[in-house]
Amino acid sequence: MRSLIHFLPIYSPTMDKRDQLREQIHTLVAEYYHAAHTPYPFVPGETRVHYASRVYDERELIAAVDACLDFWLTAGPRAESFERRLAEYTGVRRALAVNSGSSANLVAVTTLRSRRLERPLEPGDEVITPAVGFPTTVAPIVQNSLVPVFVDCQLGTYNLDPEQLEPALSERTRAVFLAHTLGNPVEMAPVKEFARAHSLYIIEDTCDALGATYDGQMVGTFGDLATLSFYPAHHMTTGEGGAVLTDDPRLARIARSVRDWGRGCWCRHDSPPTGACGRRFQWKIPGLEEPYDHRYLFVEIGYNLKMTDVQAAIGLAQLDKLPDFIAARKRNFARLYAGLKPYEEYLILPTWSERADPSWFAFPITVQPGAPFTRHDLTTFLEGRNVETRLLFAGNVVRQPGYRHIEHRTVGDLPNSDLVLRSTFFVGVYPGLDDARIAYMLETFADFFRSGYS
Ligand SMILES: Cc1ncc(COP(=O)(O)O)c(C=O)c1O
Repeated sequence: MRSLIHFLPIYSPTMDKRDQLREQIHTLVAEYYHAAHTPYPFVPGETRVHYASRVYDERELIAAVDACLDFWLTAGPRAESFERRLAEYTGVRRALAVNSGSSANLVAVTTLRSRRLERPLEPGDEVITPAVGFPTTVAPIVQNSLVPVFVDCQLGTYNLDPEQLEPALSERTRAVFLAHTLGNPVEMAPVKEFARAHSLYIIEDTCDALGATYDGQMVGTFGDLATLSFYPAHHMTTGEGGAVLTDDPRLARIARSVRDWGRGCWCRHDSPPTGACGRRFQWKIPGLEEPYDHRYLFVEIGYNLKMTDVQAAIGLAQLDKLPDFIAARKRNFARLYAGLKPYEEYLILPTWSERADPSWFAFPITVQPGAPFTRHDLTTFLEGRNVETRLLFAGNVVRQPGYRHIEHRTVGDLPNSDLVLRSTFFVGVYPGLDDARIAYMLETFADFFRSGYS
């Protein structure tokens, strides 16, 4: 934590006083955390067993307060450190912090529409994407005047079925936007091969899958661009927040412009007055003889989707804990899997590729067609006993009111996606679930089956 102090302007005569005050504030914040934020003991049946939540201690609170004391407010030194640490962790050349996973998806797709690319996506071009998933994987395709082509999912993995890629192909296909559903890696080998054979871009929505690997390689590093979400339900949090990952410096430059109002300038918080380029006041606008300030040269039609320094401060503290968070998620998943195995006659349990090491976001369950109860029966029972459940996001997104009328194509009738819409839900595996809570969850499932499904 002390190292954060060095982001302050240096050589102030009041430094000692400020250092001292900061130390006192840190101590008080830690005390406050222990007085106000420590979890209540778990009371089976009474305490709600959440499917996810932020997991934090005094270190995140201190980091946030420390950033507030600097009062940088916008993206600054901490956001830049956070980007560096994220890139290191995921093994990509560039990570760009943004204000949500949805924004990351928007930046990723918009980047591929850039006229600065040799082969940008054009209006009407098609993007293959799974029908089962989170709606803001699909939204930026539509928002960018592209046409989603929906493929069905595999039951068990809930990932796009690679067998459906060839049937989805047309002359207008330009990209595959996949998601590693609930932390379970997509079978990347056939997807990569398909994309290579047809010169398609790949975007990986890795919002639910930070830390998962396929063939030992981190997901988010297979495609041209990948995205992360740091909403509190995810593997680590910055409150609202997300990131775009890429290994391609050219895509990184464009994505940065799209995020930062569309401007071409790549100045950092500590760049000199002459700019990171060293010739800030000598840029040209076609048709104008006078030079133009690079800061106001707009090379993309952009947004402002940046992450603030307070969010990044929390993210830096969370990154230290990420390996432990992921390990806890895997442990909880394994316990639930073992405990629910006896009910496989009625429940479809998750499956994953033998080449994958998932980093579980949650534990998905599909009520078997023909089971003597419905999903509604089971989730109502669990919720009534304070075990929180969630549906698999949009189910089949084509059936959602906001998406029914978009221009799109589908491969076949998407029967598995419809089954997910009707019969799939998930429960939590997040690190806040200790042994007592997991045991209670399993006991509640057992009660449901013992009690005749109601
Ligand atoms: C797969 C997936 N993509 C994108 C998002 C959007 O992330 P955010 O909530 O940070 O906008 C989510 C949200 O949970 C998600 O699960």
